[in-house]
Amino acid sequence: MKKAAFALLLLGLLALALAQRYFGDQELEQIKTAGKAYAEVFINQRPDQALCSLHKNRLPADLLPKFLEEQRAQIKYPQSGKLMGDWRKGGAIFNNLQRANCFSCHYGSPVHLGGDVGPSLEKYGLKRGQSEAIQRYTYEVIYNAWAYFPCTVMYRFGAQGLLTPEEIADVVAYLLDPESDFNTKPAVGSR
Ligand code: HEC
Repeated sequence: MKKAAFALLLLGLLALALAQRYFGDQELEQIKTAGKAYAEVFINQRPDQALCSLHKNRLPADLLPKFLEEQRAQIKYPQSGKLMGDWRKGGAIFNNLQRANCFSCHYGSPVHLGGDVGPSLEKYGLKRGQSEAIQRYTYEVIYNAWAYFPCTVMYRFGAQGLLTPEEIADVVAYLLDPESDFNTKPAVGSR
């Protein structure tokens, strides 16, 4: 009797173990060889990403000037030369999880509760103004944040081909234009 109960228990455990096998054969194989795949990804990083990885995102001061210069050289501008585009289009990009997803890291959107991975951008345009220097700074940070904040987690929207120069100019307008919803409507979560 005891033996039968024991066998039943074993069978139960086996069923449980099988049910918990979440991964298919191919997935298991990928996990087992992840060491090699990881090594390959690591070895094949672009030189700038490799530098960030090597220094755990804190570049030594002597490497900074060349790094910043190389990042700056990647920045391209809209053909029109205008760094502020259409703020309505910019808002649709800023507030869309599947486009720029800016709000997930930045507080200040009147549409979504913002995250706090990056600094608050609440009423950015009212605080910074719309000078040529601010337009340029904002455009360049969005195009390639590494030109100002080496190795930052912020996506490099232009440099990585996620947004076109024109789309970035639209986002700049969304942040800076005093008429933009971003500056006239309260940020979600503000008191
Ligand atoms: C993955 C998170 C993340 C996303 C997504 C992100 N950012 Fe950032 N952003 C940051 C961080 C972090 C910083 C601060 C840089 C640093 O210190 O590393 C920053 C800095 C900035 C700054 C400079 C702020 C200042 O006070 O001068 C601006 C402007 C900015 N981001 C705009 C945007 C816009 C617009 C988008 C979407 C197109 C965006 N960010 C998407 C994380 C993010």
